[in-house]
Amino acid sequence: MARPDPASRLMAKFTHRRATVGVVGLGYVGLPLVRAMHQAGFRVVGYDVDEKKVTALRAGKAYLKHLGRELVRELASSDRFAATSDPKSLRECDAVCLCVPTPLGAHREPDLSYVAESTRMVAGVLKKGALVTLESTSYPGTTREVCLPILEGKEGGRIRRLGSDFFLAFSPEREDPGRKGFETRTIPRLVGGVDLRSGDAAEALYAAAVEKVHRVESAEVAEAAKLLENIYRAVNIALVNELKPVLTDMGIDIWQVIRAASTKPFGFQPFYPGPGLGGHCIPIDPYYLSYKAREFGHSTRFIELAGEINHAMPKYVVERTASALNERGLALKGASVLVLGIAYKADVDDIRETPAAEIIALLAERGARVSYHDPHVPTFPSMRKYEIPLRSSPLTPRTLRAADAVVVVTAHRAIDWAMVGRAAKVVVDTRDALGGRTRARIVKA
Ligand SMILES: NC(=O)c1ccc[n+]([C@@H]2O[C@H](COP(=O)([O-])OP(=O)(O)OC[C@H]3O[C@@H](n4cnc5c(N)ncnc54)[C@H](O)[C@@H]3O)[C@@H](O)[C@H]2O)c1
Repeated sequence: MARPDPASRLMAKFTHRRATVGVVGLGYVGLPLVRAMHQAGFRVVGYDVDEKKVTALRAGKAYLKHLGRELVRELASSDRFAATSDPKSLRECDAVCLCVPTPLGAHREPDLSYVAESTRMVAGVLKKGALVTLESTSYPGTTREVCLPILEGKEGGRIRRLGSDFFLAFSPEREDPGRKGFETRTIPRLVGGVDLRSGDAAEALYAAAVEKVHRVESAEVAEAAKLLENIYRAVNIALVNELKPVLTDMGIDIWQVIRAASTKPFGFQPFYPGPGLGGHCIPIDPYYLSYKAREFGHSTRFIELAGEINHAMPKYVVERTASALNERGLALKGASVLVLGIAYKADVDDIRETPAAEIIALLAERGARVSYHDPHVPTFPSMRKYEIPLRSSPLTPRTLRAADAVVVVTAHRAIDWAMVGRAAKVVVDTRDALGGRTRARIVKA
């Protein structure tokens, strides 16, 4: 009988859970993936250059609160999981999934240095016949143009052949930290290989760990699909953010309008305005496509326009705060402003790209005395662009009454909104957090 080809051998290992899976980058995407692969029955090696994360995982300490303590405890006590900063530990892996950051550079250009660096590291230790998947969001062509030449040894390493020495695919993570009801296992997976057998191998790997895999023709289709999902959000959020000041000046509440339009059972999906974009994805990913489009002589006007509108929101919020104070005969300079919520979205402690940072910086620049309250973020972490030396103030009727204006940036459920409505003098509400339940003066922003 003929020996099975390398891809079939690998697929059998995945299907029968006899494989070891390496996860590179143990952040918001990598750690839930570790959980999914571990729960599927694989042996899992979690690798990160950040030794603090590795130490925490070994000790069973949670560093991403929204995933809960149980997960890290389970991993720390499992003989099928190892956390490491030593690349050599990845030598035994039959699959290695890259979950490293893909930020923007100073001029909004893609920064693929983490992808290239981690691929180089993996190339140095990869077992013959293993699969590499990239999960980090990036422009179409990244897996083929950046990862493939490195793995083939074209940068001066040992020459390896795709299809026998290794396989390579793209499978975008669709994690939404803090969202209830979905986890890595239950979010359908897109998978596309740089060639047919790589796609087959990746499909077998993810099918063993997630409920539904949608195979696409190529890595590029999967890369583009992920970007389309995020661009769709960025553009639709921009649309309601553009309509917000227009309707506000007409004396119409946009949140009521969106609720009304949402009663249509087809053809409409609600998106909500806010104080500006935040998080690792929506403010960043669309520009990955803009960048690549330029290489083909195209401009992406929707993306640029959406970016322009969404980026202007923090300034709009500050202007609305200034005019709300003005109505009360007060200037922003010298006024005390309490910001409620600094996380970029409700019920999480994630402050990446949060619009709260720009709002606080702009308020302070104009002379306001700013404080904040966030039940999930006790101190304002240091950010790439901002250093805001503040700690979360207690939220009491007294602190609310003491503020000349309260600005709602994040509608955490843990905040007592009824109390805010009773005690605050003026609330600049960017999230419709107070609805109609209040005696305070509400300025929608
Ligand atoms: N956060 C989300 O909700 C989300 C959702 C979908 C997709 N993504 C995408 O997934 C990717 C990862 O995002 P994230 O939110 O998990 O980022 P993260 O910052 O939470 O985690 C990335 C991890 O990679 C580690 N790392 C950096 N360089 C490394 C290297 N050379 N080798 C090994 N580890 C390295 C970092 O120390 C960090 O722990 C990004 O491309 C992002 O756009 C994120």
